Amino acid sequence: MRSRFSLTLVIMLLLALLAVVPAAAGGWAVITLDSLPENPTAGQPLEIGFMVRQHGFHPMDGLQPIVRLSNPATGERITLTADPDPDKAGHYQAVLNFPSEGTWEWSIEAYSGVQRMPALQVATANASAEGAGLSAAGPAPLAWGLLALTGLAAGLLLLRSGKTRLALGSGALGLAFAAAALVAVLGSPARAEASPVEVSSVETGRRLFLAKGCVMCHSHNRAESNEWNVNIGPGLSNYSNSEEFLHSWLKDPSAVRENAAMPQLELKEQEILDLIAFINAREE
Ligand code: HEC
Repeated sequence: MRSRFSLTLVIMLLLALLAVVPAAAGGWAVITLDSLPENPTAGQPLEIGFMVRQHGFHPMDGLQPIVRLSNPATGERITLTADPDPDKAGHYQAVLNFPSEGTWEWSIEAYSGVQRMPALQVATANASAEGAGLSAAGPAPLAWGLLALTGLAAGLLLLRSGKTRLALGSGALGLAFAAAALVAVLGSPARAEASPVEVSSVETGRRLFLAKGCVMCHSHNRAESNEWNVNIGPGLSNYSNSEEFLHSWLKDPSAVRENAAMPQLELKEQEILDLIAFINAREE
């Protein structure tokens, strides 16, 4: 009887501890975006998904994560709540809508912590229309150029056959067409704007360092740190290591070291490569 009583007491104490410990520790979670958002465009809904893991390890259900977006240039601010994914524990989804183009800053708040996400360069809504305009303007310089060549060639032929006046005339016409070709080339919208901006592997890795939640546990002077982080991992500003080691470490820390205190964050192959490029990059 006595032993049963003490067992109940122990169980009750344990339950009480379980209820108290997360609150006492302040409760913190690591937020890991499924992937970096691609081609955010004003006026076009952008779906995102992310995991919330308590202390980096345990998927957390039953939360109402808050997503905050802001465009510092226009002062616009948007706040929305992410929905739980019925198919995956600890996974949440939200649809972002950007009313204007430009640099949008954003963060996700879950389980009392806020995690800053890498800023998004939101394109103008009519970017694709501009692209179409560019290809329509494409053949124009070519046509003018051909006319210019014809004019100049005719001028040369006429000059040879002694018809100086006519030769001068068609030569001038050729030059005029050449000028038109030049205007058509210079006047067309900048080509660089039409093609998506190339982002280096190092820069992608830097963004992933925020988006995957590394920043919650590691400081790094080339990745804006959160106002809020736990820094339980080593600082990585001056850290580098072999690609082989980092590859296996980021893929699954506990496969490298038993009881590794770093979680496995389900990183994709390309994300691992970009993170390695960022970690091993040195400032010029
Ligand atoms: C929940 C906290 C946490 C998160 C999130 C986290 N780490 Fe770690 N990390 C640690 C801890 C703790 C260690 C030390 C682990 C050990 O030695 O067992 C560590 C170690 C490391 C090391 C050094 C490994 C070595 O032994 O040389 C690297 C590099 C690293 N982490 C990169 C990352 C990257 C990149 C991410 C994001 C994809 C990340 N970490 C996310 C906690 C974290």
